[in-house]
Amino acid sequence: MEFSIKTLSPETAETGCIVLGIYGGNAASKELTASARRVDQRSKGALSAALGDLASKVGSTLLLRALPNVAAERVLLVSLGAKNEFGETQYRDAVRAAAGALRELAAKEAALFLVDVKVNSQPLSWNLRQAVLAVREVLYRFDELKSQKKSAAAALAAVTLPLSSSAQLEQALAEAEATADGADLARTLGNLPSNICTPSYLADQAKKLARDYKLDVEILERKDMEKLGMGALLAVTSASHEPPKLIVLHYSGAAKSKAPRAPLIALVGKGITFDTGGISLKPAAEMDEMKFDMSGAGSVLGAIRALAGMKAPVNVVGIVPACENMPGGHAIKPGDVVTTLSGQTVEILNTDAEGRLILCDALTYAERFKPDVVLDIATLTGACVIALGHVATGLFANDQQLADEVREAADDAWDRVWQMPLWEEYQEQLRSNFADFANIGGRPGGSITAASFLARFTRKQRWAHLDIAGTAWKSGREKGSTGRPVPLLVRFALRRAGRK
Ligand code: BES
Ligand code: MN
Ligand code: ZN
Repeated sequence: MEFSIKTLSPETAETGCIVLGIYGGNAASKELTASARRVDQRSKGALSAALGDLASKVGSTLLLRALPNVAAERVLLVSLGAKNEFGETQYRDAVRAAAGALRELAAKEAALFLVDVKVNSQPLSWNLRQAVLAVREVLYRFDELKSQKKSAAAALAAVTLPLSSSAQLEQALAEAEATADGADLARTLGNLPSNICTPSYLADQAKKLARDYKLDVEILERKDMEKLGMGALLAVTSASHEPPKLIVLHYSGAAKSKAPRAPLIALVGKGITFDTGGISLKPAAEMDEMKFDMSGAGSVLGAIRALAGMKAPVNVVGIVPACENMPGGHAIKPGDVVTTLSGQTVEILNTDAEGRLILCDALTYAERFKPDVVLDIATLTGACVIALGHVATGLFANDQQLADEVREAADDAWDRVWQMPLWEEYQEQLRSNFADFANIGGRPGGSITAASFLARFTRKQRWAHLDIAGTAWKSGREKGSTGRPVPLLVRFALRRAGRK
């Protein structure tokens, strides 16, 4: 799919379909956006005459054909909802709905006259980025594992964003398309089942990225982990027949000359390719969703793909501990004590709290790269889903300035987070009689005690933790990976590099 920025008039645009926004609380009080008004005037009121058939709920659509004096063959009206309630979420829902309708119509080309509507105080570049990401998300298809593939000919091939071109908007477009490529990669890795997307498969994907974008990659094998003393990661993988991998992928896009050393961001992603719970076995219902437990890893590879694809002037190291969490004769058992790479000992009271075990060793390993900041991304706790649902990612940090920076990037990307406390008081819950501390802290504040566990391994670093258990995928009819938080990670890196 190709996006282009072009000055266009809605009434004369020679394209298969023009998409126009309409505000309106109730049928009597519909208000046309500027583009819709022009089309209405040119067609002598044919557009407003049809408005009674457009529901006012955000994202409702109505297709009109062959309006008099209008060049485009089809006009797709999209409801923006009440003008005084219109904001970022409504804008994105409207674009998504329009893309969905274009998909159903099997439209090959369209001009999105929604992009210039005012969304609170957001600049046009924000509208543009969101539109590209929303359209790409809606048109994303995962049918590699179906015997019947949807015909490629049905796909939307060209989308025009009717704005007057500028260097800033062209840059926003390039960034958005690369971000969508990264989100697609994260989505596909999440959607692939665990019999295909194994730790070795993730390592191969990292090697492929390294080849395609000339990155440096290093894969640590089990024997390397043993030599280093990654007792926690090794404990989680112990019953699996799939070899564990620790993927290290470097993207160096920042000017080498910056003294004394260009700033470095470390992204650490949880790569459990399947989480059965281990001996603390999960219940059968919905266990299939635990194939998404490598979504943190997918988002790290996706973000690096995006940044490399747009040649962003940043340096990033992605670190992905990847393995399966299985029961079996060699499995770790509740009560087992292991020594982590940091030297601290952990009593594993629940083998299903495995994410923190692989992450703690990866976070300690990250120290050797001396990053300015470390972000870890993990589908870490069911408790986070209970706390924040599927809207906000849980944010934890040992540095408030970093937390603020992540939140601002998340708001900018509209890939939002909500900060949770990481106070010393919660550490008490991790007390153990037999090791330095335990890997679980009981039910109260489950996502906070999980983060508190990680905090014990990041004392020497500026660190933030993103719990994406509720935001990385959708359950139910629309089951599938969302590609979050790739947009947030990309925005964070770009803002650090001084990009607006
Ligand atoms: N991968 C899960 C977290 C998860 C659960 C994500 C449900 C999305 C939906 C994680 O490894 C896990 O099992 N966490 C346990 C921790 C508990 C044993 C302290 C959980 O959340 O139940
Ligand atoms: Mn688990
Ligand atoms: Zn897990």
